[in-house]
Amino acid sequence: MLGSFAARYIPCAPGGAEITLTALDYPEIDITSPESVAEAFDSVRPDIVLNCAAYTDVDGAETHEMDALAVNAVGPELLAHAAKKSNALLVHVSTDFVFDGEKVGAYREDDEVNPLGVYGKSKLLGERAVASIAPEYLIVRTAWLYGPDGGNFVATILNLARQRSLVRVVDDQRGSPTYTGMLAETIWRLVSRGARGVFHASGRGACTWYELAAAAVELAGVKADVQPCTSEEFPRPAKRPKNSVLDCSKAEDLLGEELEGWRVGLETYITGLSESGRRSTPLPYSRTPVEHCHTSYYVITLKREAMRYLLLLEKKRTA
Ligand SMILES: NC(=O)c1ccc[n+]([C@@H]2O[C@H](COP(=O)([O-])OP(=O)(O)OC[C@H]3O[C@@H](n4cnc5c(N)ncnc54)[C@H](OP(=O)(O)O)[C@@H]3O)[C@@H](O)[C@H]2O)c1
Repeated sequence: MLGSFAARYIPCAPGGAEITLTALDYPEIDITSPESVAEAFDSVRPDIVLNCAAYTDVDGAETHEMDALAVNAVGPELLAHAAKKSNALLVHVSTDFVFDGEKVGAYREDDEVNPLGVYGKSKLLGERAVASIAPEYLIVRTAWLYGPDGGNFVATILNLARQRSLVRVVDDQRGSPTYTGMLAETIWRLVSRGARGVFHASGRGACTWYELAAAAVELAGVKADVQPCTSEEFPRPAKRPKNSVLDCSKAEDLLGEELEGWRVGLETYITGLSESGRRSTPLPYSRTPVEHCHTSYYVITLKREAMRYLLLLEKKRTA
């Protein structure tokens, strides 16, 4: 999801006019393969690498631990070594699920991590590999992602609401829903501002999954009854944090303004869905005054001015 949006957004972003985009697709990139990573770095010689590739099936990770570890821990480690070798900045995307949810209040970057499941543990290992190996890195933790380029919670709820009169959604987990458009823009702005280290970036504010579902159904004008339920009533293989709200003030201080509220991102997404009439809209992020720009590339190389390159990593989907 994120990589696809970023691939469309970044070339159109402020400062992106002089960027030349080259693209690589999977299997030209497999971040779990040392040969594949080395080959990509040798041919592209990136200055900046944005890793959006991940094993994101939170429940699946419980039974496919090695797969999750390969993509979320070994992959970033290989990228970090390659970034070190070629003096590249490694921008790595991580997750709110590195926290256990026991904190009262929003999580700051330096709060204690304690992931509850395999997915969170594998992502934490990836963070640690990046931070300990890459000389220059930016880790952006985000949360509850949705966007036009892939299956996500909001799309699932809207589909269910169109098929059923009643949809029940858990109301005892709080987080910060994040639109991929907003996140792509925020990452790009953080990179442009020279951010280094760990940053949180999510939709501003917080809600429960039930509140997010109810807001989505209402905004989409779907006539369905959305009712709250507990996590116990809806058991899943992976345990989730009760509270994974992210405090994004570090990013906001650097960027000089608040990140967009989660409801604004939701409205943008749902408006985009109804305007395009399909799940995947080619519109760039609406907050940015950009011309229409669409690329189907998922792994991109970005060439800028005096040999500035960005590798954006995400395996291409076979639609
Ligand atoms: N989704 C969320 O709610 C959420 C929340 C917090 C943080 N995050 C983080 O945000 C980032 C982006 O998430 P997302 O939801 O956009 O992910 P996504 O839609 O699942 O995309 C991840 C991509 O990585 C690809 N991939 C898997 N293994 C790969 C490999 N070995 N080499 C290259 N690519 C590979 C996947 O391909 P296949 O689809 O073919 O497997 C997929 O295209 C991730 O780091 C994720 O951990 C996501």
